[in-house]
Amino acid sequence: MTTAENFRTVYGKNPAGVWAAPGRVNLIGEYTDFNDGFVMPFALPQCTRVAAAPRTDGVLRLHSREAGEGEARGWAAYPAGVAWALREAGLPVGGADVYVESDVPVGAGLSSSAALEVATALALTGLYGVELPRPELARLAQRAENAYVGVPCGIMDQTASACCRAGHALHLDTRDLSMRQIPFGLEGWGLRLLVIDTRVKHDVGDGAYASRRAGCEAAARRLGVGALRDVSVGELGSVLGELPAAERPLVRHVVTENGRVERVAALLAAGDARAVGPVLTEGHASLRDDFAVSCAELDLAVATAVGAGALGARMTGAGFGGSAIALVEAADAEAVTKAVTEALGRSRVFSVVAGEGARRVL
Ligand code: GLA
Repeated sequence: MTTAENFRTVYGKNPAGVWAAPGRVNLIGEYTDFNDGFVMPFALPQCTRVAAAPRTDGVLRLHSREAGEGEARGWAAYPAGVAWALREAGLPVGGADVYVESDVPVGAGLSSSAALEVATALALTGLYGVELPRPELARLAQRAENAYVGVPCGIMDQTASACCRAGHALHLDTRDLSMRQIPFGLEGWGLRLLVIDTRVKHDVGDGAYASRRAGCEAAARRLGVGALRDVSVGELGSVLGELPAAERPLVRHVVTENGRVERVAALLAAGDARAVGPVLTEGHASLRDDFAVSCAELDLAVATAVGAGALGARMTGAGFGGSAIALVEAADAEAVTKAVTEALGRSRVFSVVAGEGARRVL
């Protein structure tokens, strides 16, 4: 059954359109987005699709294939938050019947929530003829998550879902949202990118992400800079001495991670994709040892992948479970998959290419 047919089954009429938005993998640039730094995500082939029709009474009715009828909490808070954020921004977005289905794994650190937000934002603006530049659409989707759902996330995931292009990674400067599409043709290079979904999610409370963010912002204030983005790798040595011990590793991670994004961008531009591997592994060590957002399962996934011949591997997304990625020679993909699957019982390993960003599909 197509998404449009499923909409018809639920609402007894045709949708006015169907829109799709992907989840993302972040190649490099973790926990840099709320420090005005650099990130380099690419879109997953897996998407969330939203079929919708306008309603004249202003009501937003939500139905998901995975979860059924929604109230404005749980999964439904995301699309409800998007409608709220669009209206708050003064956009003439009225009511809608909305049907959602998704292939993006939930709770895997692959931004299923951003995919849902962006697909909903495209659908609602599409229904009401509102033209929004994609970076602005991403900002409003982030606003929904920050202010309505209550998650203090940065801008990376929504921008990735809204702005990525097939076959490319997105080099994004989160300070001004300027972006460059960087060719990322894994298959042409004889490479594979494996996603290792550990299928664990450690409950570290909502505070873990927020406390890292607060620590970074406190360090920036102490250093008298607008954001940690303004500290260069060269300045790091002198700057660390001015900080309390608890803030030093946070700053070291953010500053070196921004440097890693720039190194990966240069390597890809020079056609040296294989050399990206060790930079990924270095990034993992920094997230594990300095930023302290990894966990035993992610560390095991990375160590096993690298031990089995991966060019490099790292956790991706916010961590504490979720997914790792491994860059591998095509010829080694099977051996690495087998080694990781054996080491991590419950995990799921799949190969991805850089997919297309959000779009109207019907
Ligand atoms: C989550 C957030 C992003 C970003 C990453 C960490 O995915 O939604 O904004 O901060 O964590 O890089």
